[in-house]
Amino acid sequence: MPRKVNRRQFVISGTAGLAAAAAVPAFGQTPARAPQPAPQTGGGPTIVTRSRVKPVVIASANGNRFKNGGTVTGVEKAFSMIARGSDVLDAVIAGVNIVELDPEETSVGYGGLPNADGVVQLDSCCMHGPKKRAGGVAAIEGVKTPSLVAQKVMDETDHHLIVGRGAQDFARNMGFEILPDLNTERSRKAWIEWKRRTDPLHYLDPIKRQAAIRRVELEMIADGWIDENHFYGTINCDGINAKGEICGVTTTSGMAWKIPGRVGDSPILGAGLYVDGDVGAAGSTGRGEANLYNLTSYLIVENLRRGLHPKDAGLEGLKRIKANTIEKRLLKENGDPNFNIIFYVLNAKGEYAGVAMFGGPNVNYTVCTEQGAQTLPCEPLLQGIAMD
Ligand code: GLY
Repeated sequence: MPRKVNRRQFVISGTAGLAAAAAVPAFGQTPARAPQPAPQTGGGPTIVTRSRVKPVVIASANGNRFKNGGTVTGVEKAFSMIARGSDVLDAVIAGVNIVELDPEETSVGYGGLPNADGVVQLDSCCMHGPKKRAGGVAAIEGVKTPSLVAQKVMDETDHHLIVGRGAQDFARNMGFEILPDLNTERSRKAWIEWKRRTDPLHYLDPIKRQAAIRRVELEMIADGWIDENHFYGTINCDGINAKGEICGVTTTSGMAWKIPGRVGDSPILGAGLYVDGDVGAAGSTGRGEANLYNLTSYLIVENLRRGLHPKDAGLEGLKRIKANTIEKRLLKENGDPNFNIIFYVLNAKGEYAGVAMFGGPNVNYTVCTEQGAQTLPCEPLLQGIAMD
């Protein structure tokens, strides 16, 4: 449901005003950085700053839906931190943590829909525009907030991506709690129902099995077991502060019932997320395989670099996916793709857009500015819906 926040309430409770925010410590801990070029430190990365921009946070629609029992949604949290001077990556990750930890959200983190063996395996990556640093984890088990582990990969290692058991060991060594099982009652029940419906099909030939699994997916969506937008799951969240510093994060439990070990687009730099601190950010939700084939977030950021508006840059990315989707099993009768994929695009001026292969009442994105958070319809490339 679209949700609007009373502007006065939001500004008072969330940000306390941008001007004041630049001068106050972030959450009483970290002194806010003054709005001036950052000092160039010895061996560290050069931090690129630019003239003032209106801060914005953009995310998938679940960024404005879940509160994990608290009072603010993910985008509200991220925006208020940016307004108070926090590092933009710290802010967008704190925003998605709310969604990762919410047991009601079945597409991300704790309680995400499990793989075909009933095990929740999570993927995430993050990029810090000004520092030009990135980190990711894939197929990690037992950690509720893979986005924070991805940030540790960025901050504490020379690597960009750590997967599977190695990712879990790394998280343990970094002090993360490792749980034996990230299923909630809700995600476990949905998996049992999926197993019940698909088990007799495991002995079919691969093509028939794929078709049968697809049929069960559609039935389970129609019967209310899973949200149609949660089949591929994911939250992407990108932000820009008044200095024009851009960061982004994507985190997911991945495709429901995936083959164990399957990694989607979310943790892959250039696919589930790409940030160029001088240009903009793009991230995605939806069918990861289609995105991986085209590295579409990278493509979209390159389109921003050519001067395209975020909406046009995103639509160009979707056209590339459509052009490269030629397998019959992935096409509707009219030749259009039979899946949805959405991109959230933000440029260095603070302009943004949410674009989708197909629109529809549940195909939205969310944005948070000093006016508060709102959920908006995505701009579709194609008419109709993915699964008709
Ligand atoms: N976009 C999430 C996934 O395909 O895993």
